[in-house]
This record gives sequence, structure tokens and C-alpha cells, in this order.
Amino acid sequence: MDDYQKVADLVKEKGYVVAFTGAGISVDSGIPAFRGGQGLWEKYDPMEYAHIRAFSNNPEKVWVMLREMSQVILDSSPSPAHLALSELQRKGYLKAVITQNVDGLHHIAGNSNVIEYHGNHRWLICMSCSKRTPLSPEIVSVQPYPRCEKCNSALKPDVVFFGEGIPMLEVIRANDEANKCKVMFIIGTSGVVYPAAEIPYTSKSNGATIVEINPENTPFTSSISDYFFKGTASDVLPKILEKL
Ligand code: OAD
Ligand code: ZN
Repeated sequence: MDDYQKVADLVKEKGYVVAFTGAGISVDSGIPAFRGGQGLWEKYDPMEYAHIRAFSNNPEKVWVMLREMSQVILDSSPSPAHLALSELQRKGYLKAVITQNVDGLHHIAGNSNVIEYHGNHRWLICMSCSKRTPLSPEIVSVQPYPRCEKCNSALKPDVVFFGEGIPMLEVIRANDEANKCKVMFIIGTSGVVYPAAEIPYTSKSNGATIVEINPENTPFTSSISDYFFKGTASDVLPKILEKL
């Protein structure tokens, strides 16, 4: 029996699946990952562009990077991997998606219980009064940077910058699902950003079977992964689904 069939059988038998996703699942949606190759952090130093202090000190500079990222997100659509996860939910096996991604593509693909650990770039939030405004091509083109229509302060994507905490509700929801799941799919994450990277270890220590999908090895691969599919998410996930 091949590993695709083994994992499909495991999913059927155990029932409660949670997916933990990172930038790799959106690569086939046209959004480059952060690290390696065309990654955003190869071009922009995250401490200079993605730290909350950098944003407060110089929103104009940071919005040069944010404008580029906004355009990529606005132009993207779900990959075969996002759609496979929404199918897995429809079939009743997948109970939650915990994502580090801020592109909103899991929602767009049709998943309902999505925990956006690092926020959602499709919304902008005012640094002073917290008013939220949807991301649009018009608002991101405002120079030198988008401002709140109510109080004129700088708008920032509603995502977690370095130096900021994870929203409490997302931490609680993610821990709850990590504890409940019987099978965890780790998909397209380098596993180097904490506290997010702790989540799969929580599931493993609660007895979950860990299934990892990534073209590269990660810190999870040799430590906790029970199955490792060395490939892209859009290639591997539909193959598992076919066997269900
Ligand atoms: P990374 O860019 O660190 O890692 C992307 C991972 O996806 C790598 O392990 C790649 O090997 C893998 N990958 C590439 N193409 C793939 C494909 N087609 N299918 C499956 N996997 C593929 O991205 P994250 O791990 O998500 O934080 O990064 C974690 C956090 O660091 C992000 O949420 C972001 C960033 O700074 C914030 O925005 C707060
Ligand atoms: Zn405001």
C-alpha cells in the first residue's frame, strides 16, 4: 500500500483532521514564500520592513513593500491545494485550518473554521482608532500611504508584525484545535517562526499522527513527522483526496 492510501485510510479512521499551513500552500496561487528564491524576505529585510517599530517610525517606507504585497494578494486565487482542503472539510474530515498565511485564500476556497494566526492582509486597520477598511487597489495606491478616513492616522494591514503579539482569541482557538486533532497536516511551512511553530508539537504530544507536505525538509521532518511527502501541496493533497 502506498503512503497516499495509508494517509487516506488514517483520515477515514481517525476522523478529526486539522491543517497547519504556511506560505508554501499559496505558492501555486502566485504568492512567493517569504524565505528562499523569490521570497519577500530576500528582497526586504524583515527587521527594516516588517517590524512594528519600523512601521510606526516610517509608514511611507514600509508601504512600498506593503503595496507590492497587496497587489500580489489581490491578484491571487485559491490553488488546487486550497481547494483540496475545502473538499476535505466538505467530506467531514477536516475540522479546522490553522494558517500562518495572511492572504485569506482558505476562506475564499470555502473553508469555514479558519484560524488566521498572523491576521489577514485583506483588511487594513487604523493605528489610532482601530477602524477597519477593506483592502482595495484604490486604497493601496494612496500616496505616501493609506490613511484612516475617520482620524487620518496611518492604516496598516491587519496582520501581526514582528514585535507584535498573536491575537489572544486565535491563540486559544489554535491550541484548542491542536489538542483535539487526531491527524495534523503540516503543509508548506518552514517551521521557524514562533510561537506558530509550536502548534504541531502540541498535537504530536497529544497523540496526533503528523503528516507533512513540503518539497524541502524542515525541523518537523526528522522530529515529529510520521509521514513526509516531499512535493508541492497542489500535487500531493489532491492525490490523497483521490484515495478517500
Ligand atoms: P516560509 O517562506 O518560511 O516557508 C515556506 C515553506 O514552503 C518552505 O518550507 C518551502 O520549502 C515550502 N514550499 C515552497 N513551495 C511549496 C509548494 N508549492 N508546496 C508546499 N510547500 C512549499 O513561510 P512560512 O513558514 O509560512 O510571518 O513563514 C512563517 C511566517 O514567517 C509567516 O507567516 C510570516 C513570515 O515572516 C508573519 O507575517 C508574521
Ligand atoms: Zn482611525
